[in-house]
Amino acid sequence: MESFILTLALLLQLVASTDVSSCSCGFFDSKTGAVWTDALIAYANETEELPRDSLIAENFQNPYEKNWNARYRAGAKSSNLVLSESTRSGWNGTAWTLKIDPPTKDHIVSGASLRSIRRDIQYGTFEAALGAPKPGVGGSILSMRLDYNETQTVNLNVMNADAPNDAWTSFMIYGDWRGTRSKGVNFSYFGNGSYSFQSSPWGFVPYRINWDNASKIDFFIGDALARSVRSKGAAKPLPVTPAVFRIQHSSFGDIYTSEGPPPNGSDARVGMIRAFFNTSSMSSEDHATFDKRCHIVPASVCLVSDTSLRGASNFSLQASRPWKTKGIDYNKRWPAIFVVSVSAAISTVLLAHAIFKRAPWKPKQAVGSLDPRSASTATSRGRKLKDLSTPPSFMFSEHDALAFTAQLPGVGTPGQVTAGTATPRDSLPPGSSHGSAQIFVASSRDSLEMCRANESKQAGGQTVVPPTDIGKYDEKKQVEATIREIPKKTPAVNNASLADANPPITTPKQRVDYLAGLVALASVLVTLIHFALTFLPATEIPYTHAHYESEIWALKIVTPYVLTFSWIGPFFTSSTRFLIGSYLKSGNLKGVAEKTVGRTPRLIIPCAAIAALEYFCMQVGAISWLEYLPSVTWSTWPYAVGYVTFGHFISEIIELMYIIPNAVPQITFNYCIGVLWTIPVQLQNSWLSLLAVIVIREIKTPWKRMGYYTFCILMHYYAMSWGSFFWVGLLIADLDLTYTWKDWLYNRPFVYYPFLNFISLLAFGSPSIDLVGMWKANWNFNTLEFGIHPHQRTGHAMRDTSDYGYPAYYLPRLTALTFSIGFHLLVELSTVVQKFFSNRLLMWLFPHILTLYLIHGLVFWSLGAAICVHLAAHNVPYWANMLIVAICTYTVIFGCLPLLTPILEGLGKSITQKIWQGASSKPPPRRKTLYPFSPEILEGNKAEDGAKDRDVESQAAKERM
Ligand SMILES: *[C@@H]1O[C@H](CO)[C@@H](O)[C@H](O)[C@H]1NC(C)=O
Ligand SMILES: *[C@@H]1O[C@H](CO)[C@@H](O)[C@H](O)[C@H]1NC(C)=O
Ligand SMILES: *[C@@H]1O[C@H](CO)[C@@H](O)[C@H](O)[C@H]1NC(C)=O
Ligand SMILES: *[C@@H]1O[C@H](CO)[C@@H](O)[C@H](O)[C@H]1NC(C)=O
Repeated sequence: MESFILTLALLLQLVASTDVSSCSCGFFDSKTGAVWTDALIAYANETEELPRDSLIAENFQNPYEKNWNARYRAGAKSSNLVLSESTRSGWNGTAWTLKIDPPTKDHIVSGASLRSIRRDIQYGTFEAALGAPKPGVGGSILSMRLDYNETQTVNLNVMNADAPNDAWTSFMIYGDWRGTRSKGVNFSYFGNGSYSFQSSPWGFVPYRINWDNASKIDFFIGDALARSVRSKGAAKPLPVTPAVFRIQHSSFGDIYTSEGPPPNGSDARVGMIRAFFNTSSMSSEDHATFDKRCHIVPASVCLVSDTSLRGASNFSLQASRPWKTKGIDYNKRWPAIFVVSVSAAISTVLLAHAIFKRAPWKPKQAVGSLDPRSASTATSRGRKLKDLSTPPSFMFSEHDALAFTAQLPGVGTPGQVTAGTATPRDSLPPGSSHGSAQIFVASSRDSLEMCRANESKQAGGQTVVPPTDIGKYDEKKQVEATIREIPKKTPAVNNASLADANPPITTPKQRVDYLAGLVALASVLVTLIHFALTFLPATEIPYTHAHYESEIWALKIVTPYVLTFSWIGPFFTSSTRFLIGSYLKSGNLKGVAEKTVGRTPRLIIPCAAIAALEYFCMQVGAISWLEYLPSVTWSTWPYAVGYVTFGHFISEIIELMYIIPNAVPQITFNYCIGVLWTIPVQLQNSWLSLLAVIVIREIKTPWKRMGYYTFCILMHYYAMSWGSFFWVGLLIADLDLTYTWKDWLYNRPFVYYPFLNFISLLAFGSPSIDLVGMWKANWNFNTLEFGIHPHQRTGHAMRDTSDYGYPAYYLPRLTALTFSIGFHLLVELSTVVQKFFSNRLLMWLFPHILTLYLIHGLVFWSLGAAICVHLAAHNVPYWANMLIVAICTYTVIFGCLPLLTPILEGLGKSITQKIWQGASSKPPPRRKTLYPFSPEILEGNKAEDGAKDRDVESQAAKERM
């Protein structure tokens, strides 16, 4: 009986209403003057189910979300769309309820979605009574959208947010500005003068989108304009493609906009939908007939404002298919394709030629096949020089090898034991034999190429001294200098030289290699940290969602030791040694001067080169999958966007040179992985180190010197300056080079072993403190330690200010300092540890660490992101996904090191060297521009020459006869 009455009421209602099919001449909007041809109108209080001929409830699950901060993936189930009575303000009777399920363990949030069956909606006015998701149950989004693809969208989002006070509605085109409150209106403003919405924003609110044409889109709350977009002045053209109309309730946990997801589910309501629009399926003839027909019978035009309209216009099957762009017109592209092919072909030939010429595979064979007998018969001098020319180690010992920013001196491919890759100058420390070294440089430049062949024959392919030049400098002095330097700085690397090198040479070898090994290991660990932050956030960041339980265990046990940012410390402490070593020993300011001149270009040029490469890659869309990654990895850590203009690029590069450390350079947001914040630290503390070493060397009394060290380290520590790391590096170098404390210690086991224990305690105890913090909630040593430092703005102790908390990543910490000291000393003093750090793999890697450091982020965030997102979309288990991503990315990273390092090298090292040469040495005598021809050929002697030639010819002819 009841249902009969209801049906009767509905029938009566329908009688009182007008069906839209009677409006054969469209719908006139008196507010805008527009006429729309089609309509779709549905009232939830007048129906028992969705109008099946025009609307459908969707079933889908997004494999990923395009959002930098989405840690969940939205979906929709048709069972989540029900009709139920609503008691909220602004609507009487039943309403569609769009429910949302609690998030699953797999971070899937199933909501509800209803959409128009037709997909040919092109411009129109769209209104809906939307009841926001419930307050206080967790954030979700009720959106009204016109969708074509992710860039061609117009939508508004009603968001309850986690805290009801933060609730707001955003009005967007092409889905951008996801996080910007300025593109939306807070619920608390709905009632104010601009919107005068009297009823509660938590009840039903009539929202409207006027998508008038390709140049004008307006959003309304009730009748009040909330946002207006014009194509004029917009960064991109406004959406124009035929779209589908959709109302969706979803949540993906974007902490900056919608927040959420609701842990126990939630629901949102839709009261009515009124859409008037044009269809893209009408041809221009159709339009002409429409105009003609409706000119004659204007009576059949309905009004958009007529609330008695019900139903939906008919449409063809074609209209329910997604609109397709016309295929690419290849005729227009042929010229471009042709040019690209030609360029690619030329590049390939040139590269192949270069590779063939350089033959990077050859020298390795040479090393392998080096006959030990022939090597041992080489003169001792030859052997030493050979050792000197082996790149990784001398790179390290020589030329300020900037630790992680190690600058690799060889003009050839570093890492490859290549004959003649090193200029002789590289084997001569500037401080050791200035006079001869200089002549040597000048002369060797020219002759190096010519005598390369001779050299390689002469000493197993390794000697770098051009025989023709031997006479030009004091050979004895040179040999002496070399021998003097070897124990300090020159390790041997290849097996052959190891085998036949006499003890005084092998022992110091390890003394230098181990530091290279330490830095190489540290840089690999830093890449691992970034990998974890990108793909396995739960292993690095406490209280984030983990894919597997094991990640939590890794965080609590492995991370404090292996994946800790304290590994950045050894970069800093060890880099000092190579900056100040020569001055500390010789007291010659030339070393300081050279480092001062070379430091900036050497650090900045490679960074600028890789940043430019990334600039290019981003512009061509290499990191376009990165934005999808958070929904799969649940890590919101990765973020990078392309540069706005080239000017920004320049500005950010320059900023790197001048920014004061303990700040985040802007380039962090335009560069894959924010590693570049360490560049200002390195750069500024280089000046500190270079200045410090001059002061230190003047303090002759040991206790005063040590007192000065103590004072400076404490002050830097207290002021939260990275300088403390560099002072420690300086101190360790000083102890070694000036006081030769190693010999002293080695001869006193009673001091040595307790000291070794102490530094092991530092090295392993410091991360253990972090470990305790992982296990014990509410207690964190780093936070406590941060509290005692001064707050720069107020001068109070940090713990008394509002900035008190866990220190930012770019601030130095005590545990990192003690860890670095411990580890550095352990590596300096323990021969066992040294042996480990001198292994071949690390030695191979060492020359590449700057490249590794600069490039790994790009690979993770482009290739890694693409692989990860696609595998996840195919439901590959996450552990397998990670395995594949790790193998692929690391293969690519290590594979491109040998290709990129020489380029960076060439840029950083050669340019720096040229600058310093140009500054410090007398220019060689100017050559006549006609070189190698004599000036005579232009000065009228041509005739004579010709005559001579003829004479010679006739002479020869005579002889033949
Ligand atoms: C349904 O709701 C609309 C808008 O509130 C109202 O105009 C209409 O009369 C209602 N229909 C019925 C059958 O109550
Ligand atoms: C709902 O019903 C009440 C009482 O009948 C009426 O005052 C109110 O205007 C109605 N609201 C809507 C939106 O129709
Ligand atoms: C979306 O569609 C437009 C129009 O066809 C097209 O230009 C654009 O590349 C598409 N965007 C994406 C991300 O597919
Ligand atoms: C809206 O509310 C949020 C959260 O309460 C607040 O941060 C924001 O500043 C508000 N918007 C405006 C325009 O005041």
